[in-house]
Amino acid sequence: MAERSSGIRFDRVSVAYGGGGARTVALDSLDLTVEPGEVMALLGPSGSGKTTALRAVAGFVRPTSGRVLIGERDVTDLPPHKRGIGMVVQQYALFPHMRVEDNVAFGMKAQKVPKGEIPGRVAEALELTGMAAYAKRYPRELSGGQQQRVAIARALAIRPGVLLLDEPLSALDAQLRSGMLAELARLHRELPDVSILYVTHDQVEALTLADRITVMDRARLQDVGTPQDLYRRPRTEFTASFVGNANLLPVTVGSGEKGTVSFGQAELKVPTQDVAAGATATLCVRPHLVGLGDGPNSLTGEVAEVQWRGSTHRLFVDVDGHRVKADLRELREPPALGERVTVHFAPEDAVLLAAGVAEDG
Ligand SMILES: Nc1ncnc2c1ncn2[C@@H]1O[C@H](COP(=O)(O)OP(=O)(O)OP(=O)(O)O)[C@@H](O)[C@H]1O
Ligand SMILES: [Mg+2]
Repeated sequence: MAERSSGIRFDRVSVAYGGGGARTVALDSLDLTVEPGEVMALLGPSGSGKTTALRAVAGFVRPTSGRVLIGERDVTDLPPHKRGIGMVVQQYALFPHMRVEDNVAFGMKAQKVPKGEIPGRVAEALELTGMAAYAKRYPRELSGGQQQRVAIARALAIRPGVLLLDEPLSALDAQLRSGMLAELARLHRELPDVSILYVTHDQVEALTLADRITVMDRARLQDVGTPQDLYRRPRTEFTASFVGNANLLPVTVGSGEKGTVSFGQAELKVPTQDVAAGATATLCVRPHLVGLGDGPNSLTGEVAEVQWRGSTHRLFVDVDGHRVKADLRELREPPALGERVTVHFAPEDAVLLAAGVAEDG
């Protein structure tokens, strides 16, 4: 359906809101490329600048410096309707007094699509989003999920090269969200040329949908990589804790045998890579990779808490004043609170993060 395939490039884009003393830098020198046809998730906590980045692509906010490119075109000075983008925001934003078909046609009229072409393209967009049967309804006659499909149909009807989605599922309940997530994945398979920038603070959405994830914090890009990369090999503590769950243990890199670190009383074998001997660092181990009992890297401590989570038990074990989390499957009899237990993890399941990286970006 897309007429052209075009990536997005942020070239050192900064955005500041307000003037004088109340100036907020919402985006600080963002350098990022979204390849044609790629789904890029922008993941980060509230206020980290995700929506601002999207608005800079859409043209609703002017960068204080830097350039935005869509495809080969510098669009920094173009008005929104000339950028060839479709955008969907959290609150549907449908026109309540217009039927579904007129809502979907709306963007095309602004784009001066020839009148004769409009009905066909409305039908096509409604077909794609599974809403063909609802063309004559008003938004108030639709469920939240259906309204969001119409909003997506409206964005697609202009045949955008770039689709901007700002938390499109956050107003939906959990079950509907998971269904819509599968729908969006299908939509992307059917429109493989459309580049998608997908803002979310839900890591499941990002991990499920994205080809790559950009992790944002405090107006800055912290990390970018494939979901697998960021999960298995995070570069920073922030990424490690934001993409999936993580044990982050303060360790000192051993000066003796290569590949060992000390954590409290324990000596652990881990990949030390290029971290200098004697340096302090953070060891990241995913809770589901921590097992109960003796093993290659053993830690002994007291059970501080046990949470039953349906398919797993999460054990919190206090080891030398640090809390270690272990997600355990098929644990018939969880240990009692206060019991001394040993947990372990394999050397290859640990990632050593150099100290300070999280602060410096
Ligand atoms: N119109 C505005 N005027 C002044 N400050 C703004 C404006 N819009 C956003 N900000 C500020 O810019 C920063 C980034 O906001 P932004 O909306 O990009 O965050 P976000 O990552 O999308 O957060 P959320 O997850 O809550 O939607 C915040 O500190 C916010 O308060
Ligand atoms: Mg936002």
